[in-house]
Amino acid sequence: MIVLARPSPWHYLFSQNLDHVPSTAGPFSFYPRGRDALLAGLPLLGLSQGDVILVPAYICASITKPLQKMGYKVAFLDIESNLDFDSKKVLAAIAKYKVKAVLLVHFFGFPAAVKHIVEVCRPLGVKVIEDCCHSFLTSIDGVPVGSYGDAAIFSMRKTLPVPDGGALRFNHSVNEQSVLKNTLGEPQNAVRYFVSRALEGCIAVLGWPNIYSETVDNIRRKLQRGGKVEEQVSVVLPTIASKPLWHYLADECYLRETSRIIQGNYNQLVEACTAMGLISYIPKLPVGCTPQWAILEDHSGKLVSYLRRSGIGACRWPWHELPAEVAQDPLSYPISNMLNTRLALLPVHQSIGPYQLVRILSVLRRYVNSL
Ligand SMILES: Cc1ncc(COP(=O)(O)O)c(C=O)c1O
Repeated sequence: MIVLARPSPWHYLFSQNLDHVPSTAGPFSFYPRGRDALLAGLPLLGLSQGDVILVPAYICASITKPLQKMGYKVAFLDIESNLDFDSKKVLAAIAKYKVKAVLLVHFFGFPAAVKHIVEVCRPLGVKVIEDCCHSFLTSIDGVPVGSYGDAAIFSMRKTLPVPDGGALRFNHSVNEQSVLKNTLGEPQNAVRYFVSRALEGCIAVLGWPNIYSETVDNIRRKLQRGGKVEEQVSVVLPTIASKPLWHYLADECYLRETSRIIQGNYNQLVEACTAMGLISYIPKLPVGCTPQWAILEDHSGKLVSYLRRSGIGACRWPWHELPAEVAQDPLSYPISNMLNTRLALLPVHQSIGPYQLVRILSVLRRYVNSL
């Protein structure tokens, strides 16, 4: 059996209620991806080409490269080992680089100390954009993440089995209608997505070929490099959410149950790992947190490749996508470089059931015994 890194869409395909379309998108305007939402939101927050955006150095190039290609300047700031920005360092960076906006990431579903950063930025007129791309189902003090800054971006396809789910929300002081009154773009074509997910599902059951093996990883990277050497970047119009995404967003029970399953998987996995002598990077789940992964410390740097060789969809982050500016300057960004090599991310998503948990734990036990 292969344990997939992302949830499967079977709940949607076998649902009785496919034609129900909710009448409201809630606070969101939808875009294909999170990065599209960010590029569309910046001008509405009053930013323009040449303005500086402060981003955590622990970030993926798929968010910084589009910003740079659109003419924004990106200033990097190392995060602390608790995955948070230090508000004093943020203040110093704002003064040093004349920062106009701060991108604050709620990493892996764990809520960042957003209130502190907003407190520092608001008096200076610096915009705070919450990056909720890993944390769509997380809340702080009962309020969903994305409600605290000036704006927030989402990438719901990282939490839900959908092909789209880039989304933008504003919390105040922006004429959002100027985006929404534009002609809506076409929603994503879900057919290709479902075909590839069905294929992935069959491979997971058969256990062959191992889509997480080094060989497949190398082929995938070569294809990506060959296929999209220079990705086009532009500001795109908001789209209508795809039908599967509407379906999930309208189903509050499903969303609540999804959080409950993920939290249960996290707690079971962390408890069993701790009993084996492995160390969870964040031992106790914060209240309201729906994590994207369980995070283990991997001091040998070998755990992720061991798990992937064994058919478990574990990974590092951002792995090969750490921006070159950060990867080439470990003295300025020691924590981001350390996190990129020393954290093993294990799947705990809503499609992980008892069989998958047993499989993950048996591979971990073999790993521990081999040390
Ligand atoms: C923290 C973070 N923000 C934003 C993005 C961009 O999301 P998308 O891939 O939907 O553009 C990613 C992508 O991996 C991410 O990890």
